[in-house]
Amino acid sequence: MSTLISRSVVNMKVFIIVNLCLPYLLHGTDGRKFRNDYYYYPEAAGWLKLHEVPATWNNAWLKCFREGAVLASPETENLNNTMKLLSANLQNSFAIYTGIHATFSKGDYYTIEGTPLSKINVTWAPGEPDNFGDKENCLAMYHNGTLADVDCNGIFPFLCYKKKTKLITNACGTIDTDYALNVKTGSCYKFHRFPQNWTQAFAACSGEGGYLAIINSNVEASVIRELYVSNPDSVMPGSFEKSMAHIGVSDWGRRGLWLTIHGETLNAAGYDKWVNGYPSADTTANMNRPCGTVFRDGLLANTKCGMVRPFICEKTPDSLEDYEYYE
Ligand SMILES: *[C@@H]1O[C@H](CO)[C@@H](O)[C@H](O)[C@H]1NC(C)=O
Ligand SMILES: *[C@@H]1O[C@H](CO)[C@@H](O)[C@H](O)[C@H]1NC(C)=O
Ligand SMILES: *[C@@H]1O[C@H](CO)[C@@H](O)[C@H](O)[C@H]1NC(C)=O
Ligand SMILES: *[C@@H]1O[C@H](CO)[C@@H](O)[C@H](O)[C@H]1NC(C)=O
Repeated sequence: MSTLISRSVVNMKVFIIVNLCLPYLLHGTDGRKFRNDYYYYPEAAGWLKLHEVPATWNNAWLKCFREGAVLASPETENLNNTMKLLSANLQNSFAIYTGIHATFSKGDYYTIEGTPLSKINVTWAPGEPDNFGDKENCLAMYHNGTLADVDCNGIFPFLCYKKKTKLITNACGTIDTDYALNVKTGSCYKFHRFPQNWTQAFAACSGEGGYLAIINSNVEASVIRELYVSNPDSVMPGSFEKSMAHIGVSDWGRRGLWLTIHGETLNAAGYDKWVNGYPSADTTANMNRPCGTVFRDGLLANTKCGMVRPFICEKTPDSLEDYEYYE
């Protein structure tokens, strides 16, 4: 513990965190940069984030993936111990998902990273594995570290893991080089060429530490137009609508009302220029199109949320300085 303290005293804030010790156990202190919502655990040789909200195995996989990490597996004794430590505090469940799964081929268990189950020192819970009802293809870990096979559609909390590597965070506070800081707005943007529906787009931006873009000014609309210029139709293979991108506008289930995903009216947010004829005055038409998109020319339109389109994420260029690592 003392070496940890000397290595991570950066400012008073961190010093206090370290001194309280319990947060150390919960979060780790060695703040090498990855993301603000991940903590570095020297003994696990990487960063971890506990997702307390239970999810199906597939959604857990996807959440970790979107965050640039993997669903954690107790592959080594040290990682195992850290996973046990972190999950022990969960009140809402008796187990967490691991990344160990047989979703490709029944009975052939691997970690996400591809380590076969035979290479992992597993202790099974009593009566496990039982492939109950021939429906169990995912492994969950009880708080005492023993494993059980479970139905992948069951919901459990989970841990995402990023193995220690040399990471370079950019001016946007992320290792994702697709985010670029725009000096005109002071915000960071990423144009997603691979199309998703509005819901998936929201989740992707959120996982990346950002949000579906919110246009706050004419200047920002021009930034969006410039993003489009760098992303012509030709760079997006496939047949889908490429001239509209999902952004952070929604009717919040209140037909005819248009707000940003941060709850402001478009007018209050600073930009409400719609394409001619949008939003439709017809509430029935709007009912089917409650999600917001932006055209190549920077004008807004409402659309069906299920339509897959490119989308634009925005991110505050948050610094990771509270957890800056000093040697
Ligand atoms: C994880 O911990 C449990 C309980 O302490 C132990 O039985 C199991 O073998 C450990 N797994 C690994 C990979 O060390
Ligand atoms: C596997 O885990 C058990 C229980 O934690 C431990 O006693 C044993 O030494 C471990 N075996 C290997 C090969 O790591
Ligand atoms: C670990 O927890 C499981 C589930 O609560 C329980 O069935 C099992 O007996 C426990 N094993 C040990 C070694 O405590
Ligand atoms: C978006 O796609 C996801 C995954 O396929 C699906 O579960 C969701 O219902 C879709 N959303 C809409 C609004 O259609």
